[in-house]
Amino acid sequence: IPTVGLGTWKAAYPGEVTEAVKAAIDSGYRLFDCAYLYHNESEVGAGIHCKIKDGAINREDLFISSKLWCTYHKKSLVKTACSRSLKALKLDYLDLYVIHWPMGFKPGERDLPLDRTSMVIPSDSDFLDTWEAMEDLVIAGLVKYIGVSNFNHQQLQRILDKPGLRFKPITNQIECHPYLNQKDLIKFCQSRNVSVTVYRPLGSSWRTWTLEGLDMMDDPVIEKIARKHNKSAAQIMIRFQIQRHTIVIVKSVTPKWIRENIQVVFNFELTEEDMEAMLELNRNRRLATFPTTKNHKDYPFHIEY
Ligand SMILES: NC(=O)c1ccc[n+]([C@@H]2O[C@H](COP(=O)([O-])OP(=O)(O)OC[C@H]3O[C@@H](n4cnc5c(N)ncnc54)[C@H](OP(=O)(O)O)[C@@H]3O)[C@@H](O)[C@H]2O)c1
Repeated sequence: IPTVGLGTWKAAYPGEVTEAVKAAIDSGYRLFDCAYLYHNESEVGAGIHCKIKDGAINREDLFISSKLWCTYHKKSLVKTACSRSLKALKLDYLDLYVIHWPMGFKPGERDLPLDRTSMVIPSDSDFLDTWEAMEDLVIAGLVKYIGVSNFNHQQLQRILDKPGLRFKPITNQIECHPYLNQKDLIKFCQSRNVSVTVYRPLGSSWRTWTLEGLDMMDDPVIEKIARKHNKSAAQIMIRFQIQRHTIVIVKSVTPKWIRENIQVVFNFELTEEDMEAMLELNRNRRLATFPTTKNHKDYPFHIEY
């Protein structure tokens, strides 16, 4: 899996992400992180196919990943969901398909089916059965690799321990940034040869924390390290993850930032001292808490990691 990928969640207007994908391919990105839930896979696909048509890139050079949404966890729905993403992206295979969350929701029209108390309505599916259907996608040639996202260490171990496991997850995609450094979960995954893909490495799309006076972009420790290396705060946060041997998904629709964010792969290294200082910033501050799902039997964040 390429080290740095483009996140495709939350563009402000239709077509914005198509331009971002094209700029990213020109800047050297080969990994694109998509999801059914983002409802923009056709726009991402348009960017990819424009560059293939131009002759700038071949399909085989790209690593395209998508995610199975929670309302499709029933075994009988997994292939339908995957085929839908493939159709929107206009691809005949995905390089990676991951279970977006360990929690299955009631199937139907709504992405987030809620009861009268505004809590999610679960499905009776078990993610081990969902995993079997994910394995079938590999056998059918629709996807090359499969993985998980937002799984805690016990949930990941449950899959690894599954009797008759045919393919193990190649990655666990998790929220991670200096204020939620995920030290224990990263150690756990890597000790089991499951790679870690980091999402939200800059701490979210909306600079949410500014409201709480907590924007990582202005963190004095990160700023100081950035000044020392003559890099931006974002580059320091991305490089921090690369040196922890994780894969980093960073979202931007701004051409200058798209270029800047991938430049950190080469010709630049944080010192051990910098890495220590970054690790010390941890405050276990999770942004993706998904509060409407807290009562779900498979809610992943009731345990420490
Ligand atoms: N598996 C999951 O459950 C899950 C959950 C959330 C996200 N994800 C994936 O991870 C991706 C990244 O997460 P995210 O979008 O929440 O957050 P993020 O990548 O940490 O932050 C994106 C925000 O930072 C800005 N930005 C990007 N580069 C910058 C730079 N060099 N300097 C200053 N600002 C910069 C972007 O602005 P502009 O866009 O305006 O350029 C955008 O507002 C998503 O797009 C999605 O693909 C997965």
